[in-house]
Amino acid sequence: MASRGGFSNRLGFIAAAAGSAVGLGNIWKFPYEVGENGGAAFLVIYLACAFLICLPIMLAETAIGRNTRLNPFGAFNKIGNRKWGLVGLLGVLSGIMILSFYNVVAGWAFGYFIQIGFGGLLSKGVNYAEYFGGFVSDITDNLLFSIGFMVLTALIVAGGVQKGIERWTKILMPLLITMILGLISYGLTLDGAMDGLSFYLVPDFGEINANTFYTALAQAFFSLSLGMGALITYGSYVGKDDSIVGAAALITVADISIAFLAGLMIFPLVFSQPSIEANAGPGLVFVALPGIFETMGGIGPFIGASFFLLLCFAALTSTVSLLEVPVAFVTDQFKTNRKKTVYLVATFIFFVGLPTMLSQGASDFFTNFIYYGGEDKDFFTLIENVFSDLALPLGGFFIAVFAGWSWKNKGFQKELYFGNAALEGTFLEKMILFMVRFISPFVVGAIFIISVLQIFFNISLF
Ligand code: TRP
Repeated sequence: MASRGGFSNRLGFIAAAAGSAVGLGNIWKFPYEVGENGGAAFLVIYLACAFLICLPIMLAETAIGRNTRLNPFGAFNKIGNRKWGLVGLLGVLSGIMILSFYNVVAGWAFGYFIQIGFGGLLSKGVNYAEYFGGFVSDITDNLLFSIGFMVLTALIVAGGVQKGIERWTKILMPLLITMILGLISYGLTLDGAMDGLSFYLVPDFGEINANTFYTALAQAFFSLSLGMGALITYGSYVGKDDSIVGAAALITVADISIAFLAGLMIFPLVFSQPSIEANAGPGLVFVALPGIFETMGGIGPFIGASFFLLLCFAALTSTVSLLEVPVAFVTDQFKTNRKKTVYLVATFIFFVGLPTMLSQGASDFFTNFIYYGGEDKDFFTLIENVFSDLALPLGGFFIAVFAGWSWKNKGFQKELYFGNAALEGTFLEKMILFMVRFISPFVVGAIFIISVLQIFFNISLF
């Protein structure tokens, strides 16, 4: 057991889990989803999903992990039965597939760091929207940057849970927050900032449809790293005398706050540049930010390069958690050597990501890969739809059902008491149980059905 390693203390777990949560999801994905889904109304639904549905599931995941000290598959097999093991297996598979595309996007951020810091990108007078399109379809650059990123991830994971993951997060997260706060202040001084703010903060509930709900829910799962057992795996390294209830609340607040700040940063910047639309899609940060850095004069390249470097670090503490899941699965189940497993699994996932890399214009075949939901989708979108938008809420549904209904002998409650004996018999305990049993599964189940109809069959229920 000791050889499995563990976090040094509760703060170590919080730092690592927050590091896993805060990443491209907050800074790259969240703003463009707000932009595509009508602004503030999306934000409101997103916050509700995070706190009412996802936070209870986060507790369930962490409790399952700490109780079993195993990867998701092993964990469900141990305290559930073989059928529950399938939920764990789906989690491991989702982790592999999510990392395969996440690493590609992280490669873009890495590439922007290099191009701005060392390639003089900001002085070339390019149209950043066009530049982005060219950049993602250039396969040579993408290969280099994403190999680089996967190597870094593997090195940290090979370094072990405590030294590798914990330490970096504690240093780099505060820097990232400082940078975002700085850019928010700068953005607020620009023309158009107020339009950006009102788009982001003043809800227009006429904008809401079924799409808004499932995008917000899926994004909450993705951003909090939930639904595939990343927190089962991290939970397996948490000590028995650490309270996980407060920890989960802190992690959620930290993650959501950073996504919120990223929105505060991006929308004033977007609205201050007439050529950029809020619904620009996945290129949004890559298009909106360079234009602003360019206007900063001499310090622009420095600020720009630092921003993308910090974004890389945020992504790195997330890729680490994604890689950790299949690695823990292989080492737990097959008793393999951890280091060798890390390098093998990382290489495998890198190759799984190649079609995604090719699907942004480099290869016609992967760019117009498949038709569903009323339009041609690229390979990236397919993988994202299946393994993130659908698999995470589905996994979360089963995790909640398991912890709330199926875990024998009040296993879930008892696990929460460790490190938090005062919880027993309180209102908070009853509330947690109620959420895990009723709210999370019911709402996720309903939204899941809506999602499937919407994404794959283009049927909108409202
Ligand atoms: N939450 C991370 C982000 O927002 C991505 C991530 C890391 C993730 N680990 C995960 C998503 C596990 C889902 C499941 O960038």
